[in-house]
Amino acid sequence: MGGATGREERLATLVMTLWAGRFSASMDATLWDLSESYSYDHALYHHDIMGSRAHVRGLERAGLLTSDEATALEEALGAIEAEFDRGQFQRVPSDEDIHTAIERRATELLGDVGAKLHTARSRNDQVATTLRLFVRDALDDVVRDVVALVETLVRLGDTYADASLPGYTHLQRAQPVLLSHHLNAHAWSLLRDADRLLDTRHRLNVSPLGAGALGGTSFDIDPAFTASLLGFREPFANSLDAVSDRDFVAESLFDIALLGVHLSRMGEELVLWTTSEFGFASLGDDFTTGSSMLPQKKNSDVAELARAKTGRLVGNLTGLLVTLKGLPLSYNRDLQEDKEPLFDSLRQIHLVLAALTGAYGSLTFHDDVASLAAGDSSLVAIDIADELVREGVAFRQAHARVGQVVGDAARRGVPLVDAVRQDPELARFAALFEPGSSLAHRSSPGASGPLAAGAQRARLDASLDAVRTRLSSADAEAS
Ligand code: ARG
Repeated sequence: MGGATGREERLATLVMTLWAGRFSASMDATLWDLSESYSYDHALYHHDIMGSRAHVRGLERAGLLTSDEATALEEALGAIEAEFDRGQFQRVPSDEDIHTAIERRATELLGDVGAKLHTARSRNDQVATTLRLFVRDALDDVVRDVVALVETLVRLGDTYADASLPGYTHLQRAQPVLLSHHLNAHAWSLLRDADRLLDTRHRLNVSPLGAGALGGTSFDIDPAFTASLLGFREPFANSLDAVSDRDFVAESLFDIALLGVHLSRMGEELVLWTTSEFGFASLGDDFTTGSSMLPQKKNSDVAELARAKTGRLVGNLTGLLVTLKGLPLSYNRDLQEDKEPLFDSLRQIHLVLAALTGAYGSLTFHDDVASLAAGDSSLVAIDIADELVREGVAFRQAHARVGQVVGDAARRGVPLVDAVRQDPELARFAALFEPGSSLAHRSSPGASGPLAAGAQRARLDASLDAVRTRLSSADAEAS
């Protein structure tokens, strides 16, 4: 794909840029190095060519290209795309970015006809169009990865359908919860991420093509026609906004950063669960790493990296927001700095989603250890208080009464179950300490016990289906 070119070669050819007409001296090499973007924006070639194909049909419709010229241009664009696909596209030193590289090559292949490609178009509306097309597909890919992770979490819950663990607040044991309930909590936040990404996708699906450099064009082109060819919902309404708006990049980076925040919480939890101190789970050997010094170590690096990657995701979002802040209308070269954070966040989120999905797929849950922790008799305190309420005691008094027994048990160093059995007033509640009893009492809608699990699962399945449907209708919209 034509990597970095030699400095001498570049110096000799710098004057050859496509826009060099009004200049008498070539660009200084340091400015070239600062401003060229081909080295990373070549990743946009497919979507840039997609946009150019639609532009060609728009030019034909406006009578600016004959149908033979339009067909020749479409064929040349197809040939150039094939060169990229095969990794055989040759960058020449004066190719400043992906857009000029493709136009230069089309002109090489077709002569004057190729040189008509840029009629009624600027790189400003071109790059905005290309990037929207690219982000639209990229967000769909992220949503697909999110769905795969949610499916894995649900499957893990099914595998250990009866397993429970303590639910925590303040990282202190609070009430028993089913493992599936716990995993579903993560699934719900991931489903919101998927929805958010699809909302962003909907908002970005507006075509900037036809806005020109900033003020539209004198030619009789029809932005609605090219918008519909490209599967956009509608064309831009304001040309200044069309070329300068990068909200869709910022929104995408936010969606990915928040998704990353969720994945980092899951990563932290896996780190905890796989310690000897918790001992709730182990990851497969294929998802853990060893120590170069300590032979016994089995480390959850996958979870630590999921936790860590979020730092740069947030950084990419913050960086872009600062870049956009204070920019005057309309296009400014600053906007070129949108791409590297975007590419980086997309790459990192795919890495993390794929690895975490694999890690959860490899997870063994140690039900014996976790249910022992969930069976901690102090977690039954609320059930005794609730029983007293059923007998007519006001909750605050019931809370205080049970609190006395809990305090007494703690001072004497005996389990709550023993203290209750020894308490003449409360001994009748001893059956509440039977295994599974407390969990069975978590039965209100959305609660953590088995009686409420079925209804939640039905809602989760419906939400997952809704995301899948949105994704496939989004695909249909774009094709
Ligand atoms: N590579 C540029 C970008 O990403 C293309 C637009 C350049 N336009 C210009 N007027 N210099 O924004």
